[in-house]
Amino acid sequence: MTTIEATAEQVNTQPVVEQLIAHTSSEMEAVNELLLSRITSHVEMVPEIANYLISAGGKRLRPMLTIAAAMMFEPKNSQHISYAAAVEFMHTATLLHDDVVDESDKRRGRFAPRKIWGNAASVLVGDFLLGQAFMMMVEAGDLGALHVLSRSAAIIAEGEVFQLSKANDLNTNVDEYFEVIKAKTAALFEAATEVGAMAGGANDAQREALKAYGAELGIAFQLVDDALDYGGLSGTIGKNIGDDLREGKMTLPILHALKHAPEQDAQFIREHLGKVDADEAIVSRVAQILQTCGALKATIDRALDHAARAKSALEPLAGLNGADILIEIADYCVERAS
Ligand code: IPE
Ligand code: IPE
Ligand code: MG
Ligand code: MG
Repeated sequence: MTTIEATAEQVNTQPVVEQLIAHTSSEMEAVNELLLSRITSHVEMVPEIANYLISAGGKRLRPMLTIAAAMMFEPKNSQHISYAAAVEFMHTATLLHDDVVDESDKRRGRFAPRKIWGNAASVLVGDFLLGQAFMMMVEAGDLGALHVLSRSAAIIAEGEVFQLSKANDLNTNVDEYFEVIKAKTAALFEAATEVGAMAGGANDAQREALKAYGAELGIAFQLVDDALDYGGLSGTIGKNIGDDLREGKMTLPILHALKHAPEQDAQFIREHLGKVDADEAIVSRVAQILQTCGALKATIDRALDHAARAKSALEPLAGLNGADILIEIADYCVERAS
């Protein structure tokens, strides 16, 4: 091995998420500026709530994906910045709405906005952010990309409603679970990478590849989120552990345990599913059951399958700028603890 080869192999020992952050940093600075400029309003509560949530951080994974997708090609203007900001606003809006629907108390390591300003204000500021997102999409001036993003907004809402209709429904099956997560989560990842490709000037095949990548990544991401709701640490995920149990969410870990855990354990889950007052002891008993019967492992295994599909979707684009980072991000989405 020559010295040059050895050096090339040693490059990028940074965790891949750090690489994605570095790769997209100057564009993401512009995205963050745009986000802040778009939450101004003479109605004080609007910037107050929006800023509270936006300044709490969040991983900014979706807008980074939009930017990285565009950077694989040659973005000719700032459309990709607008789409990335629109995607993050859509995401922020869904979080505001989702915490109301799920009655969650914690978000991004802080009180969920609904705990401070109430449900009504959270829903309305979510609507404001959605409105701003659509204005940015329209201003970017591509009807095709507007179609992709607005379609995803409808699908996300539909997915959340479908999930709600299945809460506490012990007859929910695995196909229905996947239908929910494809809609409520994967649809936005898919749109994020697709509009990035469009803004970058990708051809049809490249656009399809990035779209498929985003969709598979989103499924893996939500599977892991559903495992972390029982197997993660509240301090790390920035949310309360066990919210899904209290909410009666029929996630894959629960579906797996209801089928495969010893009857006594399955009975314990059925008893406590959907009980808003399930305390820490109950949640940790359920988490233990999920661990012992292999439900968490089965969920992560499914996430690994979808991460592998995400990677193979990108294979035809290997060699393009940043493709290696996006390929590895699929592993991060499964290994992540937050
Ligand atoms: C939370 O998404 C909502 C899900 C789809 C699970 P993230 O985990 O990306 O949230 P932030 O933006 O980093 O807070
Ligand atoms: C996330 O579902 C889907 C959204 C559209 C926000 P979850 O309800 O699992 O997300 P968290 O766990 O509250 O972030
Ligand atoms: Mg939730
Ligand atoms: Mg969750």
